[in-house]
Amino acid sequence: MLRSHTCGALNISNLGNDVTLSGWVQKSRDLGGMTFVDLRDRYGITQLVFNMESHEALCQEARKLGREFVIQVKGKVIERSSKNKKIPTGEIEIEVADLTILNAANTPPFTIEDDTDGGDDLRMKYRYLDLRRNPVRENMILRSKVAIETRKYLADQDFIEVETPVLIKSTPEGARDFVVPSRMNEGEFYALPQSPQTFKQLLMVSGFDKYFQIVKCFRDEDLRADRQPEFTQIDCEMSFVEQEDILNTFENLTRHLLKVVVNVELEDFPRMTFDEAMRDYGNDKPDIRFDMKLKDLNAQAQNKGFKVFDDAEQVLAINAKGCAGYTRKQLDKLTNWVKRPQIGAKGLIYVKCNEDGSFKSSVDKFFGQEDLAEWAKVTDAEAGDLILVLSGTANEVPKQMSELRLEMGEQLGLRDPKVFAPLWVVDFPLLEWDEETQRYHAMHHPFTSPKPEDLDKLDTAPGEVKANAYDMVLNGSEIGGGSIRIHDRDLQKLMFKHLGFTDEEAQEQFGFLMNAFEFGAPPHGGLAFGLDRLCALMGGSESIRDFIAFPKNNSGRDVMIDAPAKIDDTQLNELNLKLNP
Ligand code: AMO
Repeated sequence: MLRSHTCGALNISNLGNDVTLSGWVQKSRDLGGMTFVDLRDRYGITQLVFNMESHEALCQEARKLGREFVIQVKGKVIERSSKNKKIPTGEIEIEVADLTILNAANTPPFTIEDDTDGGDDLRMKYRYLDLRRNPVRENMILRSKVAIETRKYLADQDFIEVETPVLIKSTPEGARDFVVPSRMNEGEFYALPQSPQTFKQLLMVSGFDKYFQIVKCFRDEDLRADRQPEFTQIDCEMSFVEQEDILNTFENLTRHLLKVVVNVELEDFPRMTFDEAMRDYGNDKPDIRFDMKLKDLNAQAQNKGFKVFDDAEQVLAINAKGCAGYTRKQLDKLTNWVKRPQIGAKGLIYVKCNEDGSFKSSVDKFFGQEDLAEWAKVTDAEAGDLILVLSGTANEVPKQMSELRLEMGEQLGLRDPKVFAPLWVVDFPLLEWDEETQRYHAMHHPFTSPKPEDLDKLDTAPGEVKANAYDMVLNGSEIGGGSIRIHDRDLQKLMFKHLGFTDEEAQEQFGFLMNAFEFGAPPHGGLAFGLDRLCALMGGSESIRDFIAFPKNNSGRDVMIDAPAKIDDTQLNELNLKLNP
C-alpha cells in the first residue's frame, strides 16, 4: 500500500505515530522556515509540515510542489500549534521526513475548491477534476448510498434483481427512441429502452413475483434541469398485488431511504386524486410544502362589466399571504414575469387587503369594495394579504397560475429544500386527448389498466375513464410513477384499438406481450422511481446533473468525450448507412 492512513483518518490519538500518506496537493504555503502543504484525498485533508532547519533539501523540494501534484509522504504525527477545529484532522500535522512525487500535474483549469471559479462548460469538459471537489463528490456518495440502501431494502423484502436487455425494440413511454443500427441485419435497428416496462411484465408471467432493477433508460426528448437523455430508474414490479400494496411497499422504501440517507423522518404521506391536484394546484405534481391553493373566481368576478374577465373561460386567484405591502415596482415585476412567453399570461390583476379592512385593487374601476370582499372570502384573504388573479382559457390559466404559485412560494421562502413533502397522486385518467394527432394517447403507457368500474365508458366517454395509475411526488417533482397493468389479452387488445392501433400493428409491435398473456399471466403492477431526481431532491438541488457522474449538457452532448461524434465511412458502410450527399 502506498499509504498507512487516509488524509481524513489521523487525529490527536495518533500523536507520535509514524505514518505514510498519499494524495493530491490542495495548496501549499511557504513561510520561510517552514512549508505547509494541505494534502487531500477522498476522505479529507491533512496538513503536512516541511522544516527548513531539520530537512533543508526536502523543504526545497516541497516548495516546488504545484496544485494537484500526486505525492507520497512519510513522517510523524505531531500536535499543531494553531489548531483548526472545523476539520477532524485539524489538531495534528505530519512532520515530513520523506517525500516522493508520484505524478506531477498541470495547473487545473479551475480551482478545486468548494466554491470554484470554473463555469459550467469548463467543469463539464474536465468533469474528472470537478469530481474532485467536495460538493460534487458528496453528491456521488449520496447517490451511491441511495442505490445500496435500495438494493438492501428490496432484497430484504424478497425482491429479485434482474437485468433486462439494452438492445431492444421500441417501448412506448411517450418519448422518441434512440436507435442503434444492426450490422448483421441490414436496414434494421434496435431501440434503446425508454424503460424495461415490457420485460418486467414478462418477468411476472415467468413467475418472478417481485422484481427490481437499477437501470439506465434512454429517451430522446427536450432536456431540462430534471431530464437527461440517459437517466436511471429504480424499476419495480410485483405480482398478485393491488394498488394499495404497491403504494404501501414503495412509500416504505421512500421513508427508509430518506431516514438512512439524509436522516429525515417523513410523517405524513398524503394522497390526492389527479382531479383534486388539478383543481387545487393546476398541476399533477403539486408542491405541497405550502398551501396557497388556486381558487375559482368565476362566480364572483364575471358579469360585472370587466371585459377581460367576462371573455375568459376561467378566472383563478391565489392568496399571497402577507404580501399586501408589495410595491408598485414589485407588482410590475411580477406582471412582467407572468407575461413572459414561458408563462404566457396576458396580464396580472391584484387586490391588496389593507390593514384597515379596505381593499385596493388594479381593477377598482370595475369592482367595488363589496365585490373585493367576496374575492377575499373565496381566497381566505385577511388584512395584509395580496390576492393575485389570472384569467383566460380553461386549458391555460391553471397552468399559468400553478407557475405563479410556485414563484410566490419561492419569493416567500416556502420552498425550503430541507423540508420534504411527499405525496401520492392517484386516479389518473387512462387516456389523454392529443390535439396535434387528433386522437387519444395513453397518459401513462398502453399497458395500464383502466379502473374496472370505468370500463363501460371506454366507448362512450374515453376521456373520463380513470386508471389504476399513480405518481409519487416529492416537493413538486415527479419522482416515480406506475400502475396496475392489464394482464388479459382481450383487454390489452381493446386498449390498443382505442389508442388507434390496427390489430396487425398491435400484433406486430406487442404480439410477444399479448401472446405471453395467454400462458398464465398473474395480476401485476409496479412503478419506477427516477433515481437521479430522487437523489437531487435529497441533496437539496433542482438539477439532476449534479448527481450524475458524467452528465450530458442541454444539447445532449458529453463535452468531455465529445459525443455524439461522426463515425468513419468504413463503419458507416458496414452498417449499411449511407451519408447524405
Ligand atoms: P415514467 O415514464 O413515469 O414511468 O418514468 C418513471 C420516472 O423516471 C423519471 N424520469 C426521468 N428522469 C430523468 N430524466 C428523464 N428524461 C426522465 N424521464 C422519466 C421520473 C419518472 O417518474 N415504465 C414506467 C414505470 C411503470 O409504469 O412502472 C415508466 O417509465 O422520475
